[in-house]
Amino acid sequence: MRVLILGGDGYLGWPTAMDMAARGHDVWVIDNYLRRHMAADTDSEPLIPAPKLPDRAALFEAATGHKIRVTEGDAGDRETLARVFQEFVPEALIHYAEQPSAPYSMRDYDSARITLDNNLGVTFNAIWAILEHAPDCHLIKLGTMGEYGTPNIDIEEGWIDIEHKGRRDTFLFPRAAGSLYHTTKVLDTDLIWFYCRVYGLRATDLMQGPVYGLTLPEAGGDTRLMPHFHYDDIFGTALNRFLVQAVAGVPLTVYGKGGQTRGYLNLLDTLQCVNLAMETPVEPGRLRILNQFTETFSVNALAEQVRRVGGQMGLDVTVQNLPNPRKEAEEHYYNPAHSGLLDLGLQPHYLTDEVMAEMLSLVRDHADRIDTGRILPRVKWN
Ligand SMILES: NC(=O)c1ccc[n+]([C@@H]2O[C@H](COP(=O)([O-])OP(=O)(O)OC[C@H]3O[C@@H](n4cnc5c(N)ncnc54)[C@H](O)[C@@H]3O)[C@@H](O)[C@H]2O)c1
Repeated sequence: MRVLILGGDGYLGWPTAMDMAARGHDVWVIDNYLRRHMAADTDSEPLIPAPKLPDRAALFEAATGHKIRVTEGDAGDRETLARVFQEFVPEALIHYAEQPSAPYSMRDYDSARITLDNNLGVTFNAIWAILEHAPDCHLIKLGTMGEYGTPNIDIEEGWIDIEHKGRRDTFLFPRAAGSLYHTTKVLDTDLIWFYCRVYGLRATDLMQGPVYGLTLPEAGGDTRLMPHFHYDDIFGTALNRFLVQAVAGVPLTVYGKGGQTRGYLNLLDTLQCVNLAMETPVEPGRLRILNQFTETFSVNALAEQVRRVGGQMGLDVTVQNLPNPRKEAEEHYYNPAHSGLLDLGLQPHYLTDEVMAEMLSLVRDHADRIDTGRILPRVKWN
């Protein structure tokens, strides 16, 4: 298939590009390096430096023989997208190109504005590029489980049947995001649903949980082909911060009581999920929503596993609770459905002690690059 990936330099975008190319698809990526610029501006560069897209694509082609076409440009720019669409006419559009950090979106007016304009702008342009240049193209969009928040009822897979005053109908499951970033994802979903209903767009919106993992068969151990690993308070996930804190010998910093529970998945499973979604395109006018995670953990459970596995590797790991910089429930009910991707054939890779030890070893190999000054929270929700 002809697969266009927006955000192809990112943590998920680059591995997806390699994976799709290795599966024999014709792959084209677009990225304007927004993430690299934001990381540089906030002193949040990844642990392992990576070359930019043309060099990565050349390295990958030399190692595997598979070609990845690259456009260094803004997917929020209509002409840039139009040029690529007219030449390539993609059959699937995988849309990762957003500002994905909750803390970044809560920093100040400018960061909030960039998040809102960029995320909604790219989604809007992606939809219009499909409508104008490739109307059969299947939009595969990365949403987030954070769209749902933490309601005190079971979370369904995108939709909920409601009976009201004796009548029934099906609606988008209620959303209650906890940051402006997550709110842009809610708005994306509404925008896509509108264009499905009224214009016949076909779309899959993947409600993904936090992703972990660095090792990919296609990278062949070459760190220049590995995805970015951020461990700072702005772009790093809680698990990435814990791995680095364990190696650096500083306490793992749990925000608040640590009962915050989320659905996680291995990077290898993101690749599977996106591929499964692509292989089963939905019919025109349909918005399919799939909850994309394989297991749930509280922050305390992650910290405990890092402490235990780190201890087995000879690391002296301690845990410290910090006042929570975010506004979120620290103890809550959490029972989201996630059978859709399993039904499509997802074979989960779980967060075993071996997987965690592998990540800790990789971090330890680059311990000299750790800057512990960028791990403690710099952004507060209020
Ligand atoms: N990584 C996770 O754990 C996770 C979890 C849930 C959802 N998601 C979603 O998945 C998507 C990808 O996440 P990621 O972790 O790879 O983020 P990332 O920041 O590493 O990748 C996004 C890429 O998009 C690019 N980009 C942003 N705006 C652009 C624009 N206007 N034009 C061209 N390129 C642009 C960035 O430069 C970056 O390389 C995001 O939409 C994110 O919200 C990620």
